[in-house]
Amino acid sequence: MSPLLLLLLCSSAVASGRGDRFTNHWAVRIRGGPEQADAVAEKYGYRNLGQVGGLQDLYHFHHSRVLRRAAFPLRGRHSFIHLDAKVAWAQQQLVKPRVKRSVLRDSALLSFNDPKWSKMWYIHCQDGSGRCRSEMNVLAAWQRGFTGRNVVVSILDDGIERTHPDLSQNYDHLASYDINGNDHDPTPRYDSRNENVHGTRCAGEVAAAANNSHCIVGIAYNAHIGGIRMLDGDVTDIVEAKSLRIRPDYIHIYSASWGPKDDGRTVDGPGPLTRLAFEEGIKKGRRGLGSVFVWAAGNGGRQADHCSCDGYTSSIYTISVSSTTENGNKPWYLEACSSIMVTTYSSGDFHERKMVRLPVLDSDAAQCSR
Ligand SMILES: *[C@@H]1O[C@H](CO)[C@@H](O)[C@H](O)[C@H]1NC(C)=O
Repeated sequence: MSPLLLLLLCSSAVASGRGDRFTNHWAVRIRGGPEQADAVAEKYGYRNLGQVGGLQDLYHFHHSRVLRRAAFPLRGRHSFIHLDAKVAWAQQQLVKPRVKRSVLRDSALLSFNDPKWSKMWYIHCQDGSGRCRSEMNVLAAWQRGFTGRNVVVSILDDGIERTHPDLSQNYDHLASYDINGNDHDPTPRYDSRNENVHGTRCAGEVAAAANNSHCIVGIAYNAHIGGIRMLDGDVTDIVEAKSLRIRPDYIHIYSASWGPKDDGRTVDGPGPLTRLAFEEGIKKGRRGLGSVFVWAAGNGGRQADHCSCDGYTSSIYTISVSSTTENGNKPWYLEACSSIMVTTYSSGDFHERKMVRLPVLDSDAAQCSR
């Protein structure tokens, strides 16, 4: 190939942009009605395919002798249409690369080997049930890098199994403390009634490790997770305030899924120390950005309880979280009030699917591995 030809080919490729492809369709603007447009079309060898979507004076012309999908616009008699005085504007149509924004396409790229992954209907629609309603766009968020990386979360509850095979990878001892035992180990107390599994289950929903061939996948599977053991004993204003004051510069998010009795008769809230702890936290915590306090809205729906009667949920310093069932309905335990900031999926009626819980005790540990 001669250098000149090569140069010409290259320059035309550059001139037409990044691999543009021209079609044999034109958009043409001609005033004076369809007869005028037909006349112009005939003059330059086009077929007038009519108005474009009813837009005034705009017509769709087609030229059959033009090479389809050419890499550069071809010259010829038809190209003189651009110079005709009756033509206000003309544009040869380019093929525009367009990609479908389908969720399926995204999620097809993401698959984890955790045995319970396929059952996590509220995160992804790959369970094959055909019952998928919404997966809250979690996969898209993950693919944009929001996986909890560099975020420190601590669960205020009855403890956390720091050696749990699905938690140990993300467990952070600096985000943990045992207020009840007054030491640094938040491991729950085991008893015959298995009372103290709540904190570990909550931690799993947040930050169970992903793709470790074990159990479930946390919604923020790369987050640091810690636990503050404070529910396994008398809960006082001091206990609550101390819990909310554990390393406020280090812990970003304090998550609490407890509160006053949800019996529809109790009106209660944080005492003076805890109120101060909230205020200090949002002003100075997270190195000045403000601590994030996340609160479960309450489960007293059956007792007609109302989360406005819960001073933790209704505090301006907490983000209160409500829930919806698989079918988008209010679950029976839901408490409604104006301080709810966000809602997420949770378990509902018996015929609706439930959340996948982190297996905690030996008795359900078998579910963890394949
Ligand atoms: C999970 O691990 C498997 C190998 O066991 C790998 O093929 C897959 O791509 C991993 N998934 C993600 C999302 O990294």
